Amino acid sequence: MNKTLQRVNLSANVSRAAKTNFSTPQHSNTAHPVGISAFSEYPATPGDHPIWRIPTPSLILSPARAVENFKAIQRAFPDATVGYAMKSNPHPSLLAALSRVEGAWFEVASRAEIQALVDIGVSGDRIFFSNPVKQPAHIAFAVQHGVRLFAYDSEHEVEKLARFNDPAHPLEVYVRMTVTHRGALWPLTHKFGVEPRRAVELLHLAKARGLRPVGLAFHVGSQCVRPDTWAEALGEVAPAWKMAHEAGLTLDLIDLGGGFPAPYTGPVPLPHEIASAVKPAIEACVPGAKRVFLEPGRGVCGDAADMVVEITGLAQRPDGQTWLYVDGGYFSGLYEIPDGIRPAVQPAIRESRPLGMHTYRLAGPTCDSLDTLFEMRSPVELVPGDRLVLKTAGAYVYSVGSPFNGFPMPEVLHEEEWMLYLDDFRGIC
Ligand SMILES: Cc1ncc(COP(=O)(O)O)c(C=O)c1O
Repeated sequence: MNKTLQRVNLSANVSRAAKTNFSTPQHSNTAHPVGISAFSEYPATPGDHPIWRIPTPSLILSPARAVENFKAIQRAFPDATVGYAMKSNPHPSLLAALSRVEGAWFEVASRAEIQALVDIGVSGDRIFFSNPVKQPAHIAFAVQHGVRLFAYDSEHEVEKLARFNDPAHPLEVYVRMTVTHRGALWPLTHKFGVEPRRAVELLHLAKARGLRPVGLAFHVGSQCVRPDTWAEALGEVAPAWKMAHEAGLTLDLIDLGGGFPAPYTGPVPLPHEIASAVKPAIEACVPGAKRVFLEPGRGVCGDAADMVVEITGLAQRPDGQTWLYVDGGYFSGLYEIPDGIRPAVQPAIRESRPLGMHTYRLAGPTCDSLDTLFEMRSPVELVPGDRLVLKTAGAYVYSVGSPFNGFPMPEVLHEEEWMLYLDDFRGIC
């Protein structure tokens, strides 16, 4: 956090519910019955509002929100082990907050991720390594730090894991399977995973090499808005589970992966709705699965951060479109936008302007044409100097951003200090 920034003297414990009230520019939390349609002008956000003091681009992070989301998943699946997929947002304050949640585990993919957890006192017995293809040095590091659970989906990986195995105290391994990804905006199925017959072969192979095969895993794809997809995936896993048991392998672990959606531009199924679809399928498809693992990333951290950017340029182009250039973009971590994972936008303007629909093509600051975001319809004309809050920028933004072309990555600020009162900005684009 930039020490030169003035802190906003606001209570840190204003609840999310209070903040979502329609508040006046004086920040009263009095609920107000009118919406934007009652105005002929889009109101200015006063000059002393925190939005104008924030450096841009920045991410306003709420570890407390991530903790709430995590606990909602735990409550929906009370018998499961929930491990945060830290690749989605490994900010230290978020990891620290989650590490204090009772029963919280972490899903990792690399040595550096384990190191980040070790640094905050998370021990290996709360970590599982779900990257199916690992680097040997990373396996060695994991084992050295007490990690016992590893995913795999190839013969080569069995050999790698066997090199670090102690047959007297074997590593537990589970096979990643390929499953349906209907309803997922970001499918993950092609790169990893095997079919049922191959899964059983790999379980046998692991056993033959002295490892302890304990179960099966899958991932329905990220931002999955269809609860039945997890149930259908379990149906695809069932033949492997059955074959393994018939062949004398006693499996007790099923890893349902991540995929829990974040509310980008509208409501999405809640954890308990997903649980209602999934629980009967667990009993039917993987009987005897005493250990149920979940690896949510986006569903934990997605709405735990918003990005604030400033409009730095405006131009009419020969394609007939009006382009708006902002100081954060694809390379600031918004790389999922071209694939359809798009934030809602709340504009903040410096002086009131008439209401009226305007269509803009939003683009980031770099010279790369990949750095083009999305088309946006704004209820007010926007000009350089205005700011935009890009909602739900908590997942795969902080972890992916780069300083490409010399543009700084978003600074991370904490919501407890930088309360934005988002409902002061009345439009949603
Ligand atoms: C192995 C694994 N587990 C969990 C996740 C988290 O997925 P999500 O953010 O959709 O919950 C991912 C995402 O890439 C993954 O690869």
